[in-house]
Amino acid sequence: MKKIIIAIITLAALAACTTAQTGNTVASPDGSLKVTVDAVDGTLCYNVVKDNDTIISNSRLGFELMGGNILGVRTEVLDITRSKVNEDWETVWGEQRVIKDKHNGAIFHTAWLDVEVRVFDDGFGFRYIFPENLGNIAIRKELTEFRFTRDDHKAWWLPESVPYYESYGNHTAFNEIDCAHTPLTIEGADGRFYSIHEAAVLDFAKMNLVPEGKSTLKAALVPWSDGTAVYVSDTRVSPWRTMIVTDRTGGLIESRLMLNLNEPCKIEDTSWIKPGKYVGIWWILHKFLYTWYYAPLNPEGHGATTERTKRYIDFAAANNFSGVLVEGWNLGWNGDWMKNHNFSFTQAYPDYDFDEIMKYAAEKGVQMIIHNETAADTQNYFSQIDDAYALYQRYGMHYVKTGNVNLLMDGIEAHDGQYGVNKLHWIVEKAAEYQICIDEHEPCIPSGVCRTWPNLMTGEAIRGQEHDAWEVDGGNTPEHTTVAPFLRGLAGPMDFTFGTFDFSNPSNPQCRTRTTIAKQLAEYVVIYSPLQMANDDPSAYEGVKAFDFIRDVPADWEQTKVLDAVIGDYIVTARQERGGSDWFLGAITDENARELSVPLDFLGKGKWLAQIYSDAADASYENNPTAVDYNEREVSSKDALELKLATSGGTAIRFIKQ
Ligand code: NOJ
Ligand code: CA
Repeated sequence: MKKIIIAIITLAALAACTTAQTGNTVASPDGSLKVTVDAVDGTLCYNVVKDNDTIISNSRLGFELMGGNILGVRTEVLDITRSKVNEDWETVWGEQRVIKDKHNGAIFHTAWLDVEVRVFDDGFGFRYIFPENLGNIAIRKELTEFRFTRDDHKAWWLPESVPYYESYGNHTAFNEIDCAHTPLTIEGADGRFYSIHEAAVLDFAKMNLVPEGKSTLKAALVPWSDGTAVYVSDTRVSPWRTMIVTDRTGGLIESRLMLNLNEPCKIEDTSWIKPGKYVGIWWILHKFLYTWYYAPLNPEGHGATTERTKRYIDFAAANNFSGVLVEGWNLGWNGDWMKNHNFSFTQAYPDYDFDEIMKYAAEKGVQMIIHNETAADTQNYFSQIDDAYALYQRYGMHYVKTGNVNLLMDGIEAHDGQYGVNKLHWIVEKAAEYQICIDEHEPCIPSGVCRTWPNLMTGEAIRGQEHDAWEVDGGNTPEHTTVAPFLRGLAGPMDFTFGTFDFSNPSNPQCRTRTTIAKQLAEYVVIYSPLQMANDDPSAYEGVKAFDFIRDVPADWEQTKVLDAVIGDYIVTARQERGGSDWFLGAITDENARELSVPLDFLGKGKWLAQIYSDAADASYENNPTAVDYNEREVSSKDALELKLATSGGTAIRFIKQ
């Protein structure tokens, strides 16, 4: 990874200072955002000012320990170590190739707890450092608060009560939140947008947020089953508590705050970590057309057969897909697999010739994405992991999709408590040893650790498209994907798995994908993942012009611009291909048809051929989802395109430099 350090200046420790707005303040490089840390009457607090407007005031910092002691009271700031960074770094994959890390920082030292702050032009982060002299501690509660100065902001939030983060975003006043996951995104009554999340959640519990009144959110760590929030021993830092502060909805998505607050890449040779697109034996299982398990009395019903897998491999090789996912290939799916936990990660069902398929895929230049559903049983998984990963590696395969279905890991701890966080991370580091990339389902919501471990490529923690196959409420709402980029999407790549062209669902006719095909296409641009699936059976794509867009769209980007958006209504995103010059644009709308005028000033000089896939005049998600028009036009950066989106429709465009 290339790293150009322009300047790193660490200033000497400064003397203690009590004037809140000067000596204890860290300002962003452009001076517009200021974070002040101080002890007010002995209680450790912080304030945030944006453009001379106090946005967060006197919010507590600190922890309550299991014994009752409190870190952050009867204290004072003893000294401050300041720093300043201005450097560019290159991502292994991502929404943006080169990222600027430009911030001012400071560590505020108190007797028993240090607070490190970094302030960027588009947000800030702070974390706690537990000094060695504190020894090992057990935390009962984190005391961090976010006390907004206004009580009329509205929040978009994911309820903690829905398992695996698979819910819609709620949009309410603060006091209507029960317990929310982060990212929690705020549409400010002051016209600004804020999003609270975390960076680098490692060896710690995830932070949720609970409200106090109409303007305050308080940290709530996901505890262990014994009631302890976090055991602090070897790791002496907390994750970063982060907040994006921006004037534009698009500024939320364009912010790189979370990635900047993670450590640089720890994998030396990253040549095997490659973004790409995949098809898979998956959607036909979720539509209950075939089964994960193999039943000797009904072998025809089994999805993952050698023959079918080869057909998917052939399709991938012929259509610019790098991978094929296969689920239900391995022993363990029969009976109640969520309870039985006897999955094998090396032994295949009799009608799936593992060796033949691996060799066939390798010959065709296709990567198998090997499914490892663990049922959240880490003992069973960890006892086989070396054998399994070594086996996959012997065939030159670099991708595993893990699954952790079950409400508790190992039947006892939360996925996003310290136990779950550590187990899930252990898998990522183990995978790196075997040059394996992970697509993590039922994970802890991500926090940018993919910067440090880029083999952690994508994951779920989203109400993805599988819900369109079987969900009792009939499938995802048209609005869902106009919210997700501003909520779950701010945490990192989403393995959403779109690409539906065949809207029939014979086993669950009450349920289907509630979009048009043009919206499905546009989602490849709007919803980011370095591994993007085309979920439908290859037969659904044969002879359909719209499929050309999926074949052409990349999964790795040079740069990203959100051109226009209203959270929950519509979003227009443009991304430029990494390693090429083409631009791709995706526009999607909720249940309302919409006309949008999109200036093309993001395009570089000269003429561009626009290949436009749009909803046909009579398209609608309810009655005519498959009607797509295709047009070509020559355009330049001075033009604007008038887009017409059907109900839950979209437009997808590829711009080719002429
Ligand atoms: C839930 C995952 O999200 C899905 O992709 C997978 O097919 C099933 N679990 C089975 O592991
Ligand atoms: Ca809406």
